[in-house]
Amino acid sequence: MRTSINQIKKMKQKGEKIVMLTAYDYTTAKIIDQVGIPLILVGDSLGNVVLGYESTIPVTMEDMLHHIKAVVRGSKTALVIGDLPFMTYHISIEDALYNSTRLIQEGGAQAVKLEGGVNIADKVRNIVECGIPVMGHIGLTPQSINQLGGFKIQGKNLEAAQKLLDDARAIESAGAFAVVLEMVPAPLATLISQSIDIPTIGIGAGAGCDGQVQVISDIIGLFTDFIPKHTKHYAKIADIMSTAITEYYNDVKSGNFPNATQSFPMEQSVIAELKKQQSDGTN
Ligand code: KIV
Repeated sequence: MRTSINQIKKMKQKGEKIVMLTAYDYTTAKIIDQVGIPLILVGDSLGNVVLGYESTIPVTMEDMLHHIKAVVRGSKTALVIGDLPFMTYHISIEDALYNSTRLIQEGGAQAVKLEGGVNIADKVRNIVECGIPVMGHIGLTPQSINQLGGFKIQGKNLEAAQKLLDDARAIESAGAFAVVLEMVPAPLATLISQSIDIPTIGIGAGAGCDGQVQVISDIIGLFTDFIPKHTKHYAKIADIMSTAITEYYNDVKSGNFPNATQSFPMEQSVIAELKKQQSDGTN
C-alpha cells in the first residue's frame, strides 16, 4: 500500500517531520522508496537536472508522463506526486483538470503539484473536487522565473510576506493536502506553518516547516552546474562516476576490459571446425 494523503496530514498533527525527495527514473525511485521516504516528487526540475534546460519552462506533459511512469514502476510504498508543467493549468479549469487527469490516469501518479496561490486557487478546488489530491507550491515558483527576475528569496517585506500568507491560506481552503514553500525566509515559513493546518514542505525555507524536500541530484552531488545555498551534498556522486568512467576508459584502451570473467566461453571443437572450414574454403 502506498502512503496516503491522510497519513501525511496526520504527520503534521503528530509533529512528525515529513521527508520528500524528487526522483525522475526507475532505479533512483526504487532506492528512495526502499529507504522509506513517504513522498516522491517527479518535479519539473527534471528540465534542469535531467534534460539540461536552463529553466523548467520547456518541460512538457509528455516529458512528465515519461518520467512519472518510470518512478511509479520503481516505487511501491511512496506517494508519487507529478508536477504539472508550465502553462498546463493556467489557461482554463478544463485544461487544469484534463492535464491532472493525464498525470494520474496515464502516468500512475497519486497526486499533482502546481505552482501559485490565490491566482490558481479555483483550479486547485476543481481538481480536488474531482478526486485528485493536489500539493501547492508558493514562494519562489520556478515556472514564473521570467516574472520573478531570478532565483531570489521571496516574501521579504511586509506586503510580500502578507501575500505569501494569503497564498498559503488560499491553497489550504481550496483543498490542497500540503504546500511547498520555496525560498522563503525561515521566520515567515515558520509563521505560515503555524497558521495553516495542512503540512508545509520547505525547500530553502528553514527548519520550521513541517517537512523538507530536496532535488535528489543536488543532495547526492550529481548535478553540479550550480549548487543552491539551501542544499547539502551528502555524497559526491559526480566525482565517483567520473573516477569509474575514467577507469573503464583506461581499461578498454589498455585491453584490460573485458577479461575472462566478463566473457562467455564455448566448445573449442565448434571454433576449431569453423576455422577448418574457412581454411578448406568451404566457408
Ligand atoms: O520541480 C521540483 O523539483 C520542485 C521542488 C524543488 C519542490 O518543484
